[in-house]
Amino acid sequence: MNTKVKVLDSNNLDKDILAEVGQVIKDKGLVAFPTETVYGLGANALEEEAVIKIFLAKGRPQDNPLIVHIADLNEIEPLVKNIPEVAKKLMEKFWPGPMTLILEKTSLIPAVTSAGLESIGIRMPKSIIARAIIKAAGVPIAAPSANISGRPSPTDIERCVEDLNGKIEYIVGGEVSEVGLESTIIDCTVIPPCVLRPGGITLEMLKEIDEDIYIDEAIMKKPEKNFKPKAPGMKYRHYAPKAPVKIVNGELQKTVAKINEMVQNYRDEGKKVGIMATDETKEKYEDVMVISLGSRDNLNSIGKNLFETLRTFDDNDVDVILSEAFEEKGFGIAIMNRLKKSAGFNIIDA
Ligand code: TXA
Ligand code: MG
Repeated sequence: MNTKVKVLDSNNLDKDILAEVGQVIKDKGLVAFPTETVYGLGANALEEEAVIKIFLAKGRPQDNPLIVHIADLNEIEPLVKNIPEVAKKLMEKFWPGPMTLILEKTSLIPAVTSAGLESIGIRMPKSIIARAIIKAAGVPIAAPSANISGRPSPTDIERCVEDLNGKIEYIVGGEVSEVGLESTIIDCTVIPPCVLRPGGITLEMLKEIDEDIYIDEAIMKKPEKNFKPKAPGMKYRHYAPKAPVKIVNGELQKTVAKINEMVQNYRDEGKKVGIMATDETKEKYEDVMVISLGSRDNLNSIGKNLFETLRTFDDNDVDVILSEAFEEKGFGIAIMNRLKKSAGFNIIDA
């Protein structure tokens, strides 16, 4: 397939490109597009024939449900059976934005989209380009992250091209994803609502709306065999670069010392190492490939750069990636959730 690649400017949206992209969705084709979390791979959420193509293009297991994206609040009504009060408050406060709400779906949404579940995840993205594309399509858009299943999610157009060129009709570029990690998912079919995936909207922020909201305990732990998570997608290996990732956890100085010791051992074995460091530590590693995710004082930059950095190490054919750990607090919960999954929960104490 010949994939068309175009870039949109959110300050000056090209109407012709939008019309063309909208038509691709209407014709049951696939479009990768920017959002503020990560790039999405979109299709008409209401057409089985279109949605099925997403699973094929990504190599995604069919028991993993998709998130449906809308551009305006009034588009939600036909999609869900009811909207609990707390969900209404969450929408008012955090939409458009990096938050997905799980609600009971209507029959308008086909079973492939929800992977057979009676509930559906709905999100109104903040990205102006994303919402313009949904409007141009005139239908809600089902969109998982625009990566080949298992790989780190793309946060810019080049990574979408890398994974999906030749497999889909259209790739739209725009800004680099501001959050860099996927949306916070909150199950609003239960009382109190439960966070199934941490993201840019942190637990502290959610508790301002309902202080009983909590994070599903299973999220941060290594899943046991045969474990069935509430968000089906959380059971698969995720965010994984080609090289194995190891997280070194502990007091910062000890972490640096441990990583340097490990680098030495790998070097003796003839292995190439990549280190995910921070501005505070990057000068402390010698004769090894180091990428700083940003300052520890600015977790937003750590989250924004995480997936891109994992992919950069792949570009450089490192044999192993060693990462510093982060405190599981605020946005740090989302960062550590993705990092632990990319490492297959391989954590070493410094
Ligand atoms: O930020 C995002 O949410 C991005 C952008 C593109 O919007 N999308 C995204 O989609 O991350 P995806 O498919 O990579 O992740 C969707 C997650 C999966 O873990 C899936 O199991 C869960 O949402 N999910 C979807 N519908 C669900 C439902 N009805 N109940 C429980 N979990 C659900
Ligand atoms: Mg994904």
